[in-house]
Amino acid sequence: MLSEQAKQAIRDQMARYPCSRSALGAALYIAQQECGGHVPTPAIRDVAEVMGLEPADVQSTMSFYVMYNKEPVGRYMVEICHNVACAVLGARQLFEVMEHECGIHAGETSADGLFTLKGVECLAACGGAPALQINGIYHENVSPQQLTQLLGQLKAQSETPASIYNATYLPERTPRSGAG
Ligand code: FES
Repeated sequence: MLSEQAKQAIRDQMARYPCSRSALGAALYIAQQECGGHVPTPAIRDVAEVMGLEPADVQSTMSFYVMYNKEPVGRYMVEICHNVACAVLGARQLFEVMEHECGIHAGETSADGLFTLKGVECLAACGGAPALQINGIYHENVSPQQLTQLLGQLKAQSETPASIYNATYLPERTPRSGAG
């Protein structure tokens, strides 16, 4: 399932920690990138084998954190913060845009496979609320009109932009940007 390159990337991460098990989070990111945005069962087994863990250990860590996807996701993972600052400043309207433009609610993927929507807790961008991420890239102070425009641009794009879901193996910190 996982390529030798991905397995080596996991070993490289293990070598960075005094306790190799501490690399499990990074290993799951690597597996998720390798598999196009989610971590299927064969990849869980491969991570466990490379790290000398039981698959159940890997599974339990993965299921604890919301950033690891258990099911296939769309080309664009849209994560809208619904915590206090964003809720007060218009997160609900952004969810409504997703429903209107893509026909999806939180936890769903659009019929065309382009968009998956997640409602997430604080993105640590409260000063730019309402905030969201698309494939790991921040957008802050997003109005419903800006989100509509952004979705239109993404629908028109044939290439997926570099992101934590399709970049080379480890998540780079992505620069924050305004929505428009
Ligand atoms: S409450 Fe939305 S980023 Fe903090």
